[in-house]
Amino acid sequence: MDYIRVEDLIFDYTKLDEGGAPVATRAIDGVSFTVARGSFTAIIGQNGSGKSTLAKSLNGLLLPTSGKVFIDGLDTAAPENTWNVRQKVAMVFQNPDNQIVSAIVEDDVAFGPENLGIDPAEIRRRVDSALESVEMGDYKGKAPHLLSGGQKQRIAIAGAVAMEPECIVFDEPTAMLDPKGRREVLGIARQLNRKGMTVVFITHFMEEAACADHVIVLDGGVIRMEGTPREIFSQEEELEALSLGVPTAVRMASLLRKRGVELPDSILTDEELVSALMEAKA
Ligand SMILES: Nc1ncnc2c1ncn2[C@@H]1O[C@H](COP(=O)(O)OP(=O)(O)O)[C@@H](O)[C@H]1O
Ligand SMILES: [Mg+2]
Repeated sequence: MDYIRVEDLIFDYTKLDEGGAPVATRAIDGVSFTVARGSFTAIIGQNGSGKSTLAKSLNGLLLPTSGKVFIDGLDTAAPENTWNVRQKVAMVFQNPDNQIVSAIVEDDVAFGPENLGIDPAEIRRRVDSALESVEMGDYKGKAPHLLSGGQKQRIAIAGAVAMEPECIVFDEPTAMLDPKGRREVLGIARQLNRKGMTVVFITHFMEEAACADHVIVLDGGVIRMEGTPREIFSQEEELEALSLGVPTAVRMASLLRKRGVELPDSILTDEELVSALMEAKA
């Protein structure tokens, strides 16, 4: 069964103007898609396309203006499901500094489970296991502010993992990181996915989206394209029209083809480009 099912989702932000009249901004304008249990879905789209609004709709932080969001069959809009939905879908946001609440790493990871009212021995077990899963076990007594951006983001991920969710929605978790931090965070997300976690990964780095099973392209609050990374990134012109690029290897391969180098159509990653070039005839 689909783990996430979004049906005709519309979301309006409503503000009051100076005269006190409500003014609505439509951020999501009729979106439907599903996410398979255990899959890795990337969502890409330029700023303001509705990615964060969609992310927050997936764990009930925002409720539909109209349409439905189901998590593991539970309607996010039904008040009796709020607790379960939040438990099932954890979120990791862009800025690690805004997500860290404690002066010691292990206290920070314990914060979520403590708020769930879980007993101390179980919290201890979860904190250790969550820190191991992000490869930060050696840092549990350290102060988060001394860590690199990538390490801080891994602590934030450990905090999500310690809630023992079935799905983690990452909202541009690598946007503020250097290349090393980005690799670390993507690597951890992929590792969690391999162990069974359903992952929704919002990014503006096309190389990261290329690692997904499924890619959704948002623009102006609607889905413009959807498919496997190979299907999506073979449509360079369509992506360009949406102010989006393609992974560097895809771009390089298409430039090389224009110069007469024979390369297969399927190149997506640096590794694939390198091995194709080793066999290519100029
Ligand atoms: N709190 C808010 N109040 C009013 N409008 C908002 C709010 N948050 C986002 N928006 C608007 O909703 C649209 C989608 O925003 P967002 O979901 O943050 O997109 P993205 O994450 O892709 O940049 C944008 O037009 C944005 O200006
Ligand atoms: Mg956003």
